[in-house]
Amino acid sequence: MSLNLVQAAYIIAAVLFVLSLAGLSQHESARRGNALGIVGMTIALGATIWLAVERADNPGLTLALIIAAMALGASIGLWRARVVEMTGMPQLIAMLHSFVGIAAVLIGYNAYLEPGLLTGSEETVHLVEVFLGIFIGAVTFTGSVVAALKLSARINSNPLMLPHRHLLNLVALLVSAGLLAWFVMSHALLPLVLMTVIALAFGWHLVASIGGGDMPIVVSMLNSYSGWAAAAAGFMLGNDLLIVTGALVGSSGAILSYLMCQGMNRSFISVIAGGFGGEGATFEGDQDYGEHRESNAAEVAELLRAAKSVVITPGYGMAVARAQYPVADLTARLRKQGTEVRFGIHPVAGRLPGHMNVLLAEAKVPYDIVLGMDEINADLPDTDVVLVIGANDTVNPAAVDEPGSPIAGMPVLEVWKAQDVVVLKRSMASGYAGVQNPLFFRDNTRMLFGDAKEAVESVLKLL
Ligand code: TAP
Repeated sequence: MSLNLVQAAYIIAAVLFVLSLAGLSQHESARRGNALGIVGMTIALGATIWLAVERADNPGLTLALIIAAMALGASIGLWRARVVEMTGMPQLIAMLHSFVGIAAVLIGYNAYLEPGLLTGSEETVHLVEVFLGIFIGAVTFTGSVVAALKLSARINSNPLMLPHRHLLNLVALLVSAGLLAWFVMSHALLPLVLMTVIALAFGWHLVASIGGGDMPIVVSMLNSYSGWAAAAAGFMLGNDLLIVTGALVGSSGAILSYLMCQGMNRSFISVIAGGFGGEGATFEGDQDYGEHRESNAAEVAELLRAAKSVVITPGYGMAVARAQYPVADLTARLRKQGTEVRFGIHPVAGRLPGHMNVLLAEAKVPYDIVLGMDEINADLPDTDVVLVIGANDTVNPAAVDEPGSPIAGMPVLEVWKAQDVVVLKRSMASGYAGVQNPLFFRDNTRMLFGDAKEAVESVLKLL
């Protein structure tokens, strides 16, 4: 295959990636989008391997090494993908972002150590690419490792509050800029190594200082960083497709982070600068909201039988309990009796962007009754019954009523405005943000304790 054919394959792959992203933006076309992405990636891999083998001094050995590395990587990847629980996806994704980061660092050092043929301004540009590629890669690497540790609860998800933390970040950036100038002038290894150490610490600090409630934004932000790290690697390797792919991931991750910031009423700049969560929070966490009211399956079945309109707001607990299938059956049952059933999905419900949508689609809940928070909130005052299934922070009125709360200002599903609210969870425990939920103590709320799947199944049986 000539270089022209490889370039043509790269262009086809790039177009398929764009079409894939477009497809993934809608439920209905998501499968097609995924398929287009797979085809694009297969073409890209095939062309890249061909090019590498064709350029190699020892094509047989190069091909064997590539196949061995891919077989090893693919076996580990397939095994992880098969065993990972849906609830373990966020930390797995964060870990995968860290691989992109460390790959960019290694590619950067390789590009620096390889004897180059460039001179003059071309060499300067190359050195800047190497420096920036390693910087972005190192920040992505440690940032993603901290995110994975926080998401898997191996380290505390509270924000790390070092004194003068914003100043520390600024100093790290300024020193790195100085090291860039030193590196470009001297071509020495030392400034590169010093910058790598600073960037690793910077990435760690950036994510460590973000509070638990803001983690969704961090995950999508690291997704974006991993894209820029890949684009930087593309520049270092002179691979156009990697630049295009990295830029697509980088910009779509940035757009998603921006939309999530809007959805959670956070400042985009504050979050990317690190250390937003927890600031200004004066919440003591020991408020006395009074008594909660316990219910049982029979009472809930009775409520549902009489209801004309029902809204279901699922959360992380539905994913843990794998309750989406009985929830879909309950929906079908209620719709059959003529009840209007809709779902209200908070943008950060669960632990992944789109987590609830994926689960509901898996259980074949019709797309047209699955609405976003903004679409459903206005209808909640006219709703007879809201079933809160394993959701907590995303339905917490403290976000609206208590300015000192760590989740203050975050838009939530205003379920308490409905006539009756039933909360299905196992205990009075708090949600991800660690904040008590005054919804549980409202007069129109009843608690149906137990595993969400079992609770929905018993209600369904009675219906
Ligand atoms: P959460 O606030 O996480 O609360 C989930 C609730 O589910 C818990 O209170 C738990 O109470 C209950 N639960 C757990 N297992 C259950 C089971 N088997 N059966 C029934 N209930 C069960 O849920 P949410 O409303 O979805 O909010 C999501 C939170 O995660 C937000 O704070 C968000 O910022 C954060 N977060 C989101 C993401 C993304 S991108 N979506 C990423 C990282 C973090 P019990 O223990 O009493 O049962």
